[in-house]
Amino acid sequence: MKTRQRTHLARDLGPDLIGQRVHLCGWVETLRDHGGLIFLHLRDGSDRLQVVLDPERLAGGAWLLAQSLHAEDCVAIEGDYLRRPEGKDRTCLDMKDTELEATALTVLSRCHSLPFRPQQRDGVGEELRLAHRHLDLRSDALRQTLRTRAETNHAMRDHLREQGFMEVETPVLGRSTPEGARDFLVPSRGAPGEFYALPQSPQMFKQLLMVGGVDRYYQIARCFRDEDQRANRQAEFTQLDLEMSFVDEDDVFELVEGMLEQVGEAVGVEVQTPFRRLSWEESMRLYGTDAPDTRFGLEIVHLTDLFDDTEFQVFRRFAETGGTIQAIAVPAACAMTRTDIEAVRAHAASLGAREPAWARITGEETLESTIAKFWSPEEAAGVARRMGGRAGDVVFFMAGASPERVARVLGELRLYLADRFDLRQDGAFEFTWVHGFPMFEVERASGRLKAAHHPFTRPDSEEALLSGDREQLLQLEARSYDLVLNGVEVGGGSLRIYQRELQQKVFEILGLAEDVIDDRFGFFLRALDSGAPPHGGIALGLDRLVQLFCGKDSIRDVIAFPKTQSGQCLMTEAPGAVAPEQLEELALVSARPRLAS
Ligand code: AMO
Repeated sequence: MKTRQRTHLARDLGPDLIGQRVHLCGWVETLRDHGGLIFLHLRDGSDRLQVVLDPERLAGGAWLLAQSLHAEDCVAIEGDYLRRPEGKDRTCLDMKDTELEATALTVLSRCHSLPFRPQQRDGVGEELRLAHRHLDLRSDALRQTLRTRAETNHAMRDHLREQGFMEVETPVLGRSTPEGARDFLVPSRGAPGEFYALPQSPQMFKQLLMVGGVDRYYQIARCFRDEDQRANRQAEFTQLDLEMSFVDEDDVFELVEGMLEQVGEAVGVEVQTPFRRLSWEESMRLYGTDAPDTRFGLEIVHLTDLFDDTEFQVFRRFAETGGTIQAIAVPAACAMTRTDIEAVRAHAASLGAREPAWARITGEETLESTIAKFWSPEEAAGVARRMGGRAGDVVFFMAGASPERVARVLGELRLYLADRFDLRQDGAFEFTWVHGFPMFEVERASGRLKAAHHPFTRPDSEEALLSGDREQLLQLEARSYDLVLNGVEVGGGSLRIYQRELQQKVFEILGLAEDVIDDRFGFFLRALDSGAPPHGGIALGLDRLVQLFCGKDSIRDVIAFPKTQSGQCLMTEAPGAVAPEQLEELALVSARPRLAS
């Protein structure tokens, strides 16, 4: 990429350019004075190159300038691109076998403040790097993840365009969108006392686009949710949001699988399609979670029926009263010691569960265990068989009154075991569709029903919804789905309600009064009443997806300017106080006034 100031990028230099005079611009990464010669690493946005500064070859006062260079100074260098002479000690910077022999040097800008070297990782805390993100951005690590992110966006856009999607931008200043988190509010100057809400997602707008006949929409959309931050959450994050008309679940799944295959090719990640599909119920039963990590086995095995007539009182009590007996088998290859076994039991206790009993499988139909002596030979044989009958496997048993709770604890133990024995295959990317979530959940504090996904999700049965019967509603399945990658939810979507009557009913079930429905959603209900097409879609969490593709621990590592766990930008120090005049203009009074400095 030639500009008025440079002829090449470091990356462009190769054998065909040997012997040519080139102009490069970039930063001084490392410097070494080597007995009358200065070697430096020149880094530009693309790569780095060794430059030799030789007083005999440098024109004018350039040698004096060369002696004054510091790390991270920004420079322009003209020179001859040459093979490195053999035999001489010129490998001090350990680069390729070529180098630039400088003929001219210009210092474009000095680096006077360098709290850390961009490539330095050890001893440089994340806070320091966040406070000086401009320097961190010069590091290979961050550059690489931002590149992967850009390639991901690019491949998604290409694929969706090929599939007839139109990119449409939806408003950022709007009214509250019910995704379940707290809103970020923006006071209106024009309407004192009133507020815009920043979008938690473009949900209603994308549905309105479908009503408007757009047919296939997508957007790389910034979303805002004022919720507690975690390693894979930010208050401000990005979704690849899409919506399609005249579709069912299979159409959305196929589209997303094709798109992620194309992304995988672009970023060097193997994405195998079709993705596995698990109903929500199966996922909860086999993994104790709706976001299962399927890269390793250790699925939960249900044993309750084997103990229907048992003499063993502890199990009998649960088997007879709707309780459950479940287990997981740890492969013999993990070679579990007594210490390992006790650590697993202690971990269960730390989760508030009873310490699980355990057994070692000795053959297809045999096992050794302190509790097995209370079982009949048939029961022991049945357990060994159902657990796989592989000699050496260690089985952990949990019994309890609530099948969901027992599965949840075993699900946690699975993950603990995967960490302890390093069972997750690095570099494997396992996508799973989890579908058919419950339509409603009970809100713990109020006992009221709330939408498990969001209130626009289509139910499996219209009749059950319209009945309004609480029991039926709690049994109701939603036409919703999550996309899970290696145990992390990277996407969520659903088929939508497209009839006014059903939508109105959902709002009522959620406890909204008629005037509130009319005030907040009147425009939306009217739109549904004007020939809305059946439609559905999904949003992928772009930050999380790229984080996993890059093998990073936090989404902050794939965001150019992220915020801390407490929602602060350490560089600009946002959020910050504002001038009293600004508050006055907005007709606001702060309950905790802080002066802007
Ligand atoms: P949902 O709320 O499931 O669905 O969000 C979709 C995906 O966005 C990602 N995500 C986040 N990523 C980082 N930080 C956050 N705070 C955060 N919150 C969510 C997750 C999640 O799977 N409107 C619906 C989509 C639809 O129905 O089409 C929605 O937003 O990866």
